[in-house]
Amino acid sequence: MIIRPERDDDRSAIGAVTAAAFAGHPHSDQTEPLIIERLRAGGALSLSLVAEEAGEVIGHVAFSPVTVTPAAAGWYGLGPISVRPDMQGRGVGSALIRRGLDMLRGSGAAGCVLVGEPGYYQKFGFRNEPALAFPGCAPQYFMALALTEAMASGTVAFDPAFGLG
Ligand SMILES: CC(C)(COP(=O)(O)OP(=O)(O)OC[C@H]1O[C@@H](n2cnc3c(N)ncnc32)[C@H](O)[C@@H]1OP(=O)(O)O)[C@@H](O)C(=O)NCCC(=O)NCCS
Repeated sequence: MIIRPERDDDRSAIGAVTAAAFAGHPHSDQTEPLIIERLRAGGALSLSLVAEEAGEVIGHVAFSPVTVTPAAAGWYGLGPISVRPDMQGRGVGSALIRRGLDMLRGSGAAGCVLVGEPGYYQKFGFRNEPALAFPGCAPQYFMALALTEAMASGTVAFDPAFGLG
């Protein structure tokens, strides 16, 4: 398995893997493939990595800029992240996350936030941070990780592609 940046000819495979991973997911409205397309079209897909095995895309993770109000620059949101259902539980998602965070850190990103299951993301260093708020989300599911700067404080907004307002 290799982790590499997306290429133009990966786009439909990324959509298919994402749709399959989120099909029937209790917290999904199945718009995740569309979110990735909107991020790409809006120039907000800052980092898009695929996991490839035997020439096939088996996983994908997207990172996009988030705004922190009143003021913190260089923060990103992780997601959507997907691993093809028959390939889950083998470390593919972890490899995508670790590589993505390494690349963000290497590019000087201040930090990363996400909405997800705390039990999964804690092992990468993500924590609930009371000083950083994401209105509309139960606080235990909103998590942050400082990469090259101190933890930010304020209110986070994801790219409009997420349709979260
Ligand atoms: C979440 C997802 C990307 C993880 O990818 P993965 O390749 O299956 O994960 P990994 O193999 O790297 O990690 C598996 C480990 O995480 C644990 N894990 C997986 N999902 C978890 C969850 N929701 N909560 C807690 N632990 C979880 C597994 O028990 C396993 O633990 P272990 O390593 O101690 O055995 C993948 O399961 C997926 O595509 N799910 C459907 C889409 C989704 O939910 N995306 C995230 C939305 S927040």
